[in-house]
Amino acid sequence: MPNRRVLILFAHPALEKSRVNRHLIDAVRSLRGVSFNDLYQQYPDLDIDVAREQQLLVEHDVIVMQHPLYWYSTPALIKQWEDLVLEHGWAYGRGGTALRGKTLLTATTTGGSEEAYCRTGHNRYTMRELLAPIEQTAVLCGLTYLPPFVVYGTHAISNDEIARHAADYRRVVEALRDDTLDQAAAANQPHLNLNLDAVLQA
Ligand SMILES: Cc1cc2nc3c(=O)[nH]c(=O)nc-3n(C[C@H](O)[C@H](O)[C@H](O)COP(=O)(O)O)c2cc1C
Repeated sequence: MPNRRVLILFAHPALEKSRVNRHLIDAVRSLRGVSFNDLYQQYPDLDIDVAREQQLLVEHDVIVMQHPLYWYSTPALIKQWEDLVLEHGWAYGRGGTALRGKTLLTATTTGGSEEAYCRTGHNRYTMRELLAPIEQTAVLCGLTYLPPFVVYGTHAISNDEIARHAADYRRVVEALRDDTLDQAAAANQPHLNLNLDAVLQA
């Protein structure tokens, strides 16, 4: 039996054009102990069912927010989801303890190369820095936040590399489920999949 229940909160507004995310979701969506919540499929009119989303969060221990990077951030539906689902008095603030003790991981893909995401690079900030609003939201709500799982350079990488990233993603999700991810080792990584062997316990 899995130790922890994992919810993949997936948002891609144009999945039919996806090169990478489609392989990432195929690698994890049917795993034992993993639930898959496709937000754009569920809410094509952006009309989020807050009670359903809160219930899903309550029923899971690990939340994986998976999406392509759009304008250095999430696709719009994830922002809408945050604005509506993470209610005061439920997720944070007085009496807002529903998410305490859970874990949040962002899994994202970028058009830009890894080298572009640093101080001297084209995009000037690291992915960890750009995702600071998600990190702080997680911390405010009492979740443990992990460095992001990032696939860079999605337009340039080969199909073999995509398959390798999908296999890595599967290892990460299985480790989150089985509680075999070394959080102390992970905390030092700029992105979780830089050196997976250091992060995943045998
Ligand atoms: C509206 C839009 C905004 C984007 N913004 C960024 C960005 O800020 N940084 C970046 O590196 N790539 C950006 N991209 C590229 C996507 O991140 C990239 O196409 C995606 O991660 C590829 O994943 P997929 O093959 O699953 O679609 C953007 C793409 C679109 C359509």
